[in-house]
Amino acid sequence: MSDYRVHPTAIVEDGAQIGAGASIWHHAHVRAGAVIGPGSVVGKNVYVDAGAVVGARCKIQNNVSVYSGVVLEDDVFVGPSAVFTNDRFPRAFGAWEEVRTLVRRGASIGANATLRCGIELGELCTIAAGAVVTRDVRPNELVAGNPARTLGWVDVHGEVVSRDAERPPSLPFGGIDQQEEPS
Ligand SMILES: CC(C)(COP(=O)(O)OP(=O)(O)OC[C@H]1O[C@@H](n2cnc3c(N)ncnc32)[C@H](O)[C@@H]1OP(=O)(O)O)[C@@H](O)C(=O)NCCC(=O)NCCS
Repeated sequence: MSDYRVHPTAIVEDGAQIGAGASIWHHAHVRAGAVIGPGSVVGKNVYVDAGAVVGARCKIQNNVSVYSGVVLEDDVFVGPSAVFTNDRFPRAFGAWEEVRTLVRRGASIGANATLRCGIELGELCTIAAGAVVTRDVRPNELVAGNPARTLGWVDVHGEVVSRDAERPPSLPFGGIDQQEEPS
């Protein structure tokens, strides 16, 4: 008896590591060697590759592929149809080099955003819907557009607290631990 939920249409390969209380929804595919932390929600038609790591209490919305080389820390939100990459100079032929992407704790990625591999998304940052992110994003930074540029700064709730280019000195780092546990 597993202590996580898997919809009958989902495929969870032997050797996938799934934490207690996780939910794997319709037509998702979790490969052997993937890691999904406790309490995480893997939406409809999500693919989690061998070697991909999803932390605790993450929410991955429909139609997202979390490729090998992608690491999501705890409490990360990935909006519907967001796109990760893991090959910076892709070709259909020859060898390729996997390039990592690290998403720090509490970050939120908007719908349809595209994340070029080799970057780090800082703690509690927000990526706007449809952004194409080509560089590191600072903690609490809000970025938007193609290529993504600073649009402002968000607090732990995701509320925009500044439209400045630089982090407001009054904005605290972190704060997720003080939030209520999701029900
Ligand atoms: C980025 C975001 C958080 C900004 O929210 P906001 O501050 O309330 O945005 P506003 O409507 O006040 O717009 C502020 C400016 O940012 C621009 N903007 C807002 N969202 C944008 C986006 N996704 N891409 C590019 N520019 C955006 C607006 O056009 C506006 O520009 P202007 O001042 O030149 O007119 C929000 O628009 C967003 O994209 N949220 C993510 C939604 C999502 O994907 N959810 C996933 C779960 S369904």
